[in-house]
Amino acid sequence: MNKPGTQTIETKRLTLRQFRVEDAQEMFDNWASDPEVTKFLTWPPHTSAELTKMLLTDWVSRYEDGGYFNWAMELKESGQVIGNISVVRLREEIEEAEMGYCMGKAFWGQGLMPEALKAVLDYLFDAAGLNRVAACHDANNPKSGRVMEKAGMKLEGTWRAGGKNNQGVCDAVYHSMIRSDRREQ
Ligand SMILES: CC(C)(COP(=O)(O)OP(=O)(O)OC[C@H]1O[C@@H](n2cnc3c(N)ncnc32)[C@H](O)[C@@H]1OP(=O)(O)O)[C@@H](O)C(=O)NCCC(=O)NCCS
Repeated sequence: MNKPGTQTIETKRLTLRQFRVEDAQEMFDNWASDPEVTKFLTWPPHTSAELTKMLLTDWVSRYEDGGYFNWAMELKESGQVIGNISVVRLREEIEEAEMGYCMGKAFWGQGLMPEALKAVLDYLFDAAGLNRVAACHDANNPKSGRVMEKAGMKLEGTWRAGGKNNQGVCDAVYHSMIRSDRREQ
C-alpha cells in the first residue's frame, strides 16, 4: 500500500479535508454532543467543546502519518463542518481498511454520507492502493447499512454478538468492497 495520508477530496456537495482544532465548536454542536448520533457508536457524547478540542488536537497531530486517514466533511454550500469519515482500523498485511463515519442529525437523509463514502473508497483504492475496504454496523442500525450499499459495498454477513457499542453487545453486519469488485461496476 501507499501512504498518502488525509488529502483533500472534492465531491459534488462536500469538501473532505483534514480537521483543524478550530473545528471543535462546530463538531461539538453538530454531532459530537448528540446522544442520537452516538447511539450506535463506541464513544459517549461529548460533554463540552473543550473535550472536543482536546480530541481534535490529538487527531491533528497524527496527520504527519501517511497511514492516518481521517476526514472532516465540510458542506460546500455553507462551509459548515457536518461530520466525520475515517479509517478506524488498518491491516497493512492484507491491505485492508475498516471505515467509520457519523454526521449531524440535521444533515441526515440527503445521501451525503454515501457521497462521502464513495469518494473515500476511490481514494483508498487508487491513492492508497488498498485491496479491501470493510465497514460494519449494528444490526439495529440498518440505515448505516444503506450507506454502505449505496456506496457500492457488498453484504458479507453478520458476526453474531460480535460487536459492542453504546447499546451493549450487538450483532455486527459486515459489508466490503475489494479491488476486483470495481472492475465489475
Ligand atoms: C448512518 C448515517 C451516516 C446515514 O447518513 P445519510 O447521509 O443520512 O445517509 P442517506 O441519506 O443515504 O440515508 C440512509 C438511510 O437512512 C434513513 N434515513 C433517511 N433520512 C433519515 C432521517 N431524516 N432520519 C433518520 N433516518 C433517515 C433511510 O433509511 C435511508 O435509506 P434510504 O435512502 O434507502 O431511504 C447517519 O444517519 C448518521 O450519521 N448516523 C449516526 C452515526 C452512525 O450511526 N454511524 C454509523 C455507525 S456504523
